[in-house]
Amino acid sequence: MRCIHIVGNRPQFVKLALLHRAIGAYTSFAQKIIHTGQHYDASMSGVFFQELNIPSPDYMLNVNQLPHHSQIGRMTEQIGDVLVKEKECGVIIYGDTNTSLAGALAAKKNNIPIAHVEAGIRTYDETMPEESNRYLIDRMAELNFCPTYLCEKNLIDEGLGRRHAKKIINTGDIMLDAWLYAAKQPQLHQTDLPATFTLATIHREENNSSPEKLSEIVRGLNAINEILPVIMPCHPKTQKKIDELGIPVLFNIRSPFSYMEMMQVLNKASYVITDSGGFCREAFFSQKPSLVIMEHPFWPEITEHGTCLQTKAEMRNIVDNFALLRKTPPKFNVDIFGRGNAARLMADVIAQEWKK
Ligand code: UD1
Repeated sequence: MRCIHIVGNRPQFVKLALLHRAIGAYTSFAQKIIHTGQHYDASMSGVFFQELNIPSPDYMLNVNQLPHHSQIGRMTEQIGDVLVKEKECGVIIYGDTNTSLAGALAAKKNNIPIAHVEAGIRTYDETMPEESNRYLIDRMAELNFCPTYLCEKNLIDEGLGRRHAKKIINTGDIMLDAWLYAAKQPQLHQTDLPATFTLATIHREENNSSPEKLSEIVRGLNAINEILPVIMPCHPKTQKKIDELGIPVLFNIRSPFSYMEMMQVLNKASYVITDSGGFCREAFFSQKPSLVIMEHPFWPEITEHGTCLQTKAEMRNIVDNFALLRKTPPKFNVDIFGRGNAARLMADVIAQEWKK
């Protein structure tokens, strides 16, 4: 049996690094990597492979800069062609991006078993491109690896275990494994930073495809920057959209950080402002209170504990909620994301379920 990892987006490379290593250490399976090319800039892709010592992809596809439907269609076709050639394999799908959906469709239509890392996340907001992706992938996967108890419960409540005989396993969050790995690495980067600051990221489609919302967010960050300097490593698409807005940006925008750089800068930050479901978890691991600019955040588990506040993409709301966040005593000593051994648990289940 061969394990084929299907990746294409920045956060997937981090999870791949951990699970690839665990499968290599605890199973005898051969492994291959398909990179769809959804993220293609060196700062969004290549640097992660180098820094995390991930083997170069065995298959490099080229599907970037297409509308969602074309991107999914072309990826499905190209991944399917690879899977037909590979035979005797199981595929590992990460998260809920277009790459993840295309990988799952290509595998399902070739009767290839699927393991889904980060299963069971629900926002119940059908306007998010990721919501339909994650719902469909969970249904196609035989092994659903859930990062939290609530994610596991979501799938059980949807009848996945009972009616569809899927395996639903709460492994904890593989991002916590990655964060613990990063914490043990030497300080590699000498990023020039102020003594105290807020670390911000904005990339979500609901925010950067709306000039109104993005202007409100920029104005909110400008106002917060007067209280506490704001540093924002910027997704290329968000950078382009901010440039098009033509409004003054008073905070510090930088090129995207590598994973290690991001974790090291996070460690020095006082607060986080983000619209990323992954980064607000990393803020939680690092015990940094975070403000999440999303209508429907992924992680009610965190918001419940006052360590993460939700806000609308409106300047006043952002500023007021940031002030509230600074006053709220956070509670980080809760066990939500497991023990940091998710990759090992996943490798054990894969070895057991996919053995010949
Ligand atoms: C994608 C995922 C999102 C995930 C994020 C992780 C989907 C629908 N969205 O969002 O769920 O949270 O990745 O980072 O799959 N671009 C570049 N350089 C790159 C990559 C993208 O310039 O290396 C620009 C291109 O103009 C591209 C646009 O960004 O069209 C959007 O990229 P895309 O991969 O579609 O979505 P993300 O916003 O990155």
